[in-house]
Amino acid sequence: MSSRAFGRAFGALAVVLAAGCGKGDPAPEPKAEPKGGDRGALVYAQYCAGCHGPEGKGDGTIVLAQPARSFAARPWRTGPEPTPELIRKVTLEGISAVGMAGFRNLSAPDLDAVVAHVQKLATTGAPTARVQTEGAKALAAAGFAELAGPAPPLLLVDARGTETRLSQLSGKLVLLHFWGTGCAHCQKEIPALDALEKAHAGRLRVLHVCTDEPDAKAAQQVLDKSAPGALAHVEANDLGLARYQVQSLPTVWLVGPDGGAIGKSGGAKDWTAEPQAQLLARWLPPAK
Ligand code: HEC
Repeated sequence: MSSRAFGRAFGALAVVLAAGCGKGDPAPEPKAEPKGGDRGALVYAQYCAGCHGPEGKGDGTIVLAQPARSFAARPWRTGPEPTPELIRKVTLEGISAVGMAGFRNLSAPDLDAVVAHVQKLATTGAPTARVQTEGAKALAAAGFAELAGPAPPLLLVDARGTETRLSQLSGKLVLLHFWGTGCAHCQKEIPALDALEKAHAGRLRVLHVCTDEPDAKAAQQVLDKSAPGALAHVEANDLGLARYQVQSLPTVWLVGPDGGAIGKSGGAKDWTAEPQAQLLARWLPPAK
């Protein structure tokens, strides 16, 4: 690398650190240039290693309130698996909640290179990887991110005015399916979800929670056309949805028979597929 290019990269580093930390932490000395001219490793060392550590183990010298974890740990914070698409998105957009600024000013080749490098760190030689539990594996296979802690409270109402509280459903596995009236692929997966509920009658409860229509009757009219026989719910008190962090449609939350949040997924799924069946089987309460 020419000294001019190096100076440019270092200048950008200082800007990024200032933007990322905002507390005037001293910029770390740039590490020696990695051998072999690996552009991804170089970009990573310049822009990312300060927080993520030289090998992505989360042991960088800059420690934020929410420290960076090892890239080898699973599930990832931002999704179940470190796909190039996900790494690219996070690198570009950052995660404002944890103080990681987005890197929108990386050149296209540098972005490609650092994405590939992070993926390598996340998937190879991972001595610090958290041992994945069987449950975490089942979640990842089904496209779910692992959750912990109690599920947020939720009060739902259907078109007949019948109220359903999440807390009343303890003892059952609950699948909250957040859909939208304009989301055709959300509505398309409803028959398969309802078939699962039937197959596990009394042990699994599937609730189709409409996110963009506050009137249960109007929401029901939509399902009557797109998924006849399915029951629409809306939130009764406008308090819970924000806590469920529905950022894309459909979003599914799996809540255990003990009321604990198990996992969350975004995007339509094939609910007849084996990983989905195994995921449910893992947390279904025993048959009576
Ligand atoms: C100012 C500190 C900081 C810098 C600089 C930084 N990050 Fe991060 N990054 C974080 C924190 C904190 C997290 C959240 C980690 C967690 O919760 O496990 C994170 C998360 C991520 C994630 C998501 C990991 C997951 O578990 O979902 C990716 C991908 C990522 N960073 C890539 C990068 C890349 C690539 C760079 C350099 C171009 C970079 N970061 C620079 C602090 C930083």
